[in-house]
Amino acid sequence: MPDNLQILLDHRPSGNVSPANFRIVRTPVPTPGPGQALVRHRFLSLDPYMRGRLSDAKSYAKPQEVGEVMQGGTVGVVEASNNPRFKPGDAVVGMGGWQLYALSDGRDLRVIDAKAIPIQAYLGPVGMPGVTAWYGLNKIIAPKAGETVLVSAATGAVGSVVGQLARAAGARAVGIAGGPEKCHFAVDELGYAACADHKSPEFAAQLKAALPDGVDGLFENVGGEPFQQALRRLNDFARVAICGLIASYEGAPTALPDMRIFLVKRIKMEGFIVSDHMPVWPQAISELSGHVAASRLKWRETIREGLENAPQALIDLLHGENLGKMLVRLD
Ligand SMILES: NC(=O)c1ccc[n+]([C@@H]2O[C@H](COP(=O)([O-])OP(=O)(O)OC[C@H]3O[C@@H](n4cnc5c(N)ncnc54)[C@H](OP(=O)(O)O)[C@@H]3O)[C@@H](O)[C@H]2O)c1
Repeated sequence: MPDNLQILLDHRPSGNVSPANFRIVRTPVPTPGPGQALVRHRFLSLDPYMRGRLSDAKSYAKPQEVGEVMQGGTVGVVEASNNPRFKPGDAVVGMGGWQLYALSDGRDLRVIDAKAIPIQAYLGPVGMPGVTAWYGLNKIIAPKAGETVLVSAATGAVGSVVGQLARAAGARAVGIAGGPEKCHFAVDELGYAACADHKSPEFAAQLKAALPDGVDGLFENVGGEPFQQALRRLNDFARVAICGLIASYEGAPTALPDMRIFLVKRIKMEGFIVSDHMPVWPQAISELSGHVAASRLKWRETIREGLENAPQALIDLLHGENLGKMLVRLD
């Protein structure tokens, strides 16, 4: 049997993440003990939350341990199993981390149907990012037909699903994305009515022009300057779902303006973490799988090859160099 390759967190970043924060090690492929399954990974998921866990600051989840395999979402195939829920050949999604092989006691592992839907979609539109989009849009923004929903990081793993679900609900979806290529993709492929480029010097004017009727629902993935501009466009009774603040993960904190606008415009703003809402996951995944299998939901991925490129893939994700879901392919 070949060796296992693993990427460990070597030391925590003090500023921006660099490849030197990680180290790769070669270890024997483990043998499953009682109740365990051995999974050969096919794809790793790279996610913005990983940046937060590289720091030991107190947060909603425990930090990544130094000297341990980097945690992260994975899809793969069961190679050997002493757990009756899994058999060799089963496609599975789990949290196997940055390594070729992982053992699981089954608690974080789920068998998936990788025939109707490509296996890596379970890390994107029919996985955690898809459920995040579904939750924030349906449970916080709850758009009505004819309303305008503004989505930042509009072409990313979460944002691309938000825009399409908002449109399917009869809302007018408007995106914010970085650069003309992403904005064209947002409008031409994802069906946004308009898109403002936050890297353009004309960003504020583009956003204003894209929002003739203001914003009824803001799905915030970014924070920073795009968020400040978006707040200025909110209508009375707007709902703001705070999903992520990626501009602040390695940059300046995102501040709120004078709170008076929340009062006079009667705005509701709610932060959420998708893992707090496990009871809705089956419904969300069932709906999202139906949309993907029927090609009603478009999705894009940026794929890097090889485990050794996972650190750079994370760094590139944190710099916005992905279009759609950032993945590392392991075969
Ligand atoms: N609350 C939750 O439970 C939950 C769950 C999943 C994800 N999230 C959050 O949702 C957001 C989107 O996550 P995702 O997985 O879908 O990632 P993603 O959107 O696929 O990738 C991140 C995108 O953020 C955008 N971005 C804007 N300003 C940026 C900046 N200053 N630096 C870096 N990137 C910037 C980039 O797109 P542009 O170039 O188009 O700006 C980049 O491609 C993140 O904030 C993430 O933390 C939250």
